[in-house]
Amino acid sequence: MLKIAVLVSGGGTNLQAIIDAIDADVITNAEIKVVISNNQNAYALQRAAQHGIEQLCISPKDYPDRAAFNQEFLKRLNSYQVDLVVLAGFLVVIPPEMIAQYRNRIINIHPSLIPSFCGTGYYGLKVHEGVLSRGVKVTGATVHFVDEGTDTGPIILQKAVAVEQDDTPELLQRRVMEQAEWKLLPEAINLIANEKITVVDGKVRIR
Ligand code: GRF
Repeated sequence: MLKIAVLVSGGGTNLQAIIDAIDADVITNAEIKVVISNNQNAYALQRAAQHGIEQLCISPKDYPDRAAFNQEFLKRLNSYQVDLVVLAGFLVVIPPEMIAQYRNRIINIHPSLIPSFCGTGYYGLKVHEGVLSRGVKVTGATVHFVDEGTDTGPIILQKAVAVEQDDTPELLQRRVMEQAEWKLLPEAINLIANEKITVVDGKVRIR
């Protein structure tokens, strides 16, 4: 049974997609042990509570410096003894020591086709604003392993989504969520939970 921690900062629609996929056996051999947020007002925490999943709120704001936060954050995460960490709209930088300890066991959902519209400054609506500003006709979402860079780890899955003529950033964000994010993240977790994923020379192979 794959034990999962889901890290969130906002509305939690990706968390909800994971919860629903486990309930529907779209994801098998997996359970969410804890939902962790830096934002005590994140609706994602209410989604966890509604589903009887343990929640933890821990924020850099409550620590004298980032090193103190990073140390406590890793200690608290380790206490849950999870196999996989899922970043679902988590807006806090993952400590390098956590990435090293959980090598190829942290995944992230990014709302574009990496390497386009990703990296520093590209998060949330800013991604879709960039897509519309450039005038690309296809965007999408990417699930990838997290490494020391920003959106630079090995790519697990991607799904393309059409950009429509009169899209606003909000309309496009919703379509990318509905058509790509909410499908890709559960699919990636299910593949990992059923030992279908390996990383060879920095590239993901799916059995
Ligand atoms: C999603 O757009 C995701 O791509 C990005 O952050 C947002 C999180 O949304 N990483 P939610 O909290 O899952 O609704």
